[in-house]
Amino acid sequence: MAAILEVFDLRKDFPGAGGVVHALCGVRLEVARGEFIAVMGASGSGKSTLLHLLGGLDLPTSGRIVIEGRDLSRLGDRDRTLFRRRRLGVVFQAFNLLPSLSARENIGLPLIVDGADINVIESKTRELLAMVDLAHRADHRPQALSGGEQQRAALARALVNDPAILLADEPTGNLDSRHTEEIWRLLRRLASDQQRTIVAVTHEAAGAAYADRILVLKDGQIVGEISPHGEGDASLVTARYSELAG
Ligand SMILES: Nc1ncnc2c1ncn2[C@@H]1O[C@H](COP(=O)(O)OP(=O)(O)O)[C@@H](O)[C@H]1O
Ligand SMILES: [Mg+2]
Repeated sequence: MAAILEVFDLRKDFPGAGGVVHALCGVRLEVARGEFIAVMGASGSGKSTLLHLLGGLDLPTSGRIVIEGRDLSRLGDRDRTLFRRRRLGVVFQAFNLLPSLSARENIGLPLIVDGADINVIESKTRELLAMVDLAHRADHRPQALSGGEQQRAALARALVNDPAILLADEPTGNLDSRHTEEIWRLLRRLASDQQRTIVAVTHEAAGAAYADRILVLKDGQIVGEISPHGEGDASLVTARYSELAG
């Protein structure tokens, strides 16, 4: 299968009071179209830094990120912003929905910003509301939705442009255990049924276990890989993870 995402020797340094922090120290990875990848690591291992770089939200110190054959580091600011808006979908731990807009309006917002046709916006939004099982909550504002519903709306919004890759940074970090499982199952379903390419970073074995492949990040480096077979069996993942990252 052709790689949709390739990362070569990615490095990111941050200047700090106590000296330079090497947040990423030579990360290499390759993700095939339709793969669901989890990147698992402890707090401070570099997960968010990696996700921000993949999402074009920050620039690496060195190294390359190639998505659908396009080298992100060779795009100017304007083209990178456009690429991010049109080809990438990102969700965060904080759902980042606009409080004054309904779920439906939040989901349609990227299309509105892009000046899409009203009929396209309506049909696409309806399709996505159904996909994340929110049709019955479409006209509610975020404050009237549960955390799980808010994250489902954020996921739908991230998918509205049919992105090449869906990137998720600790997508269940603000959710209770029931809603956490619901979100990981939804991500699994998006990958299995719709061949969505997903890269999710997390410290939770139970969530990572739904992925096709888990990359273990430690101190800014990938130290190993786990094949959980996407079945959500956390005990195997926990055991392998502590061998690799312990
Ligand atoms: N903007 C920043 N400025 C300085 N240091 C940072 C910045 N962002 C992250 N770091 C440092 O980089 C390392 C990795 O952080 P991060 O990617 O947020 O880890 P994780 O998401 O796995 O918890 C940490 O040591 C963190 O303190
Ligand atoms: Mg983080």
